[in-house]
Amino acid sequence: MNVRDSEFVTGVLLGSGFQKASSEDKADVIIFNSCSVRKHAEDRLFSNISELKNLKKKKPGLIIGLMGCTAQAYKEKAIGRAPIIDFVCGPGNVHEIPAIIKKVAKSHRAIVATDKVDSPRPELFPKFRIEGLLAYVSISEGCNNYCSYCIVPYVRGRERSRDTTDIIKEVKDLASRGFKEIMLLGQNVNSYKYGFIQLLEKLNNVEGIEKIRFMTSHPKDVSRELFEAMHDLEKIDKRLHLPVQSGSDRILKLMNRGYTKDHYRKLVSMYKKLVPGGEITTDIIVGFPRETERDFKDTVRLVEKTQFDGAYIFKYSPRPPARSCKLKDDVPPEEKQRRLAVILDIQREMSRKKRRCV
Ligand code: 5AD
Ligand code: SF4
Repeated sequence: MNVRDSEFVTGVLLGSGFQKASSEDKADVIIFNSCSVRKHAEDRLFSNISELKNLKKKKPGLIIGLMGCTAQAYKEKAIGRAPIIDFVCGPGNVHEIPAIIKKVAKSHRAIVATDKVDSPRPELFPKFRIEGLLAYVSISEGCNNYCSYCIVPYVRGRERSRDTTDIIKEVKDLASRGFKEIMLLGQNVNSYKYGFIQLLEKLNNVEGIEKIRFMTSHPKDVSRELFEAMHDLEKIDKRLHLPVQSGSDRILKLMNRGYTKDHYRKLVSMYKKLVPGGEITTDIIVGFPRETERDFKDTVRLVEKTQFDGAYIFKYSPRPPARSCKLKDDVPPEEKQRRLAVILDIQREMSRKKRRCV
């Protein structure tokens, strides 16, 4: 999603007369695009921004901007944390960036633009795309699920689905420019308001496009119909990223995920049966508040049984204002690290065995 946003902003800027600089010290404007889903990314971001202090001293006219989810989460406080920032722009305001830069250059005063968190983006089609065969296409933005650990609904707003006709127009344009693969993006693509499967069926007919991927799927919203479509529609990639987060029903409930581990396991068996040759990957959080050794073992068991083709494993970090912040972050850091390492080991071993089988 952030790669697509950076590409979008680059396109908007090029369309407004800006040019790409060949290096950091030649640039008049430097924009950081940020992710706030985990604390680690946020800390790195602020230290990266601070590294520009010397450059800014040498070149006082340099404009430094912050966009993305951390911009939305921090608003003016981002400038408190890194005073060299000249503007802060939330994900809903990115189309305003050229105007913001011009204003900052004139007034030399910092600007905070974070008021459009719930608005649909204007249907702009900047021509610029990262070169290659694959293009990202956003189908929806925001999320209504409010998983208790997650900051996304607060920084990307409520879910807004783009019109099917606009998406198809964009994909046809991409096909005519030589792109062969499309990655459909949404925080929860399966809850696309105008029918995700119907969208896949329509995109499957776009001439010139050879492969269509999508992410991310939510276990409470995927269905037999989706798996059948993945099987039947020849251009749809067979891979499925289906974050489970935990194998303990107690923790899944505290996470507000809306499914049980049995439901998840049934989905996986259905997928494996209906989509032969598919590959399944997942996300897991270890050390969620109140996660006991028993809960953790449930996750280990689920990982062993499911035989994922890949897993991204994260240590829990509180992300205010997400609701889990009300629960004490009571799993010690060393224990989170141990749990992460245990699952990583199992997963590595499994991936190694799988590779040997093929
Ligand atoms: N702490 C740790 N991991 C998190 N994720 C989301 N929020 C948090 C958090 N507060 C992980 C989830 C999600 C992935 C994108 O990031 O596993 O699926
Ligand atoms: Fe966050 Fe849950 Fe929405 Fe994913 S589905 S973006 S984890 S709130």
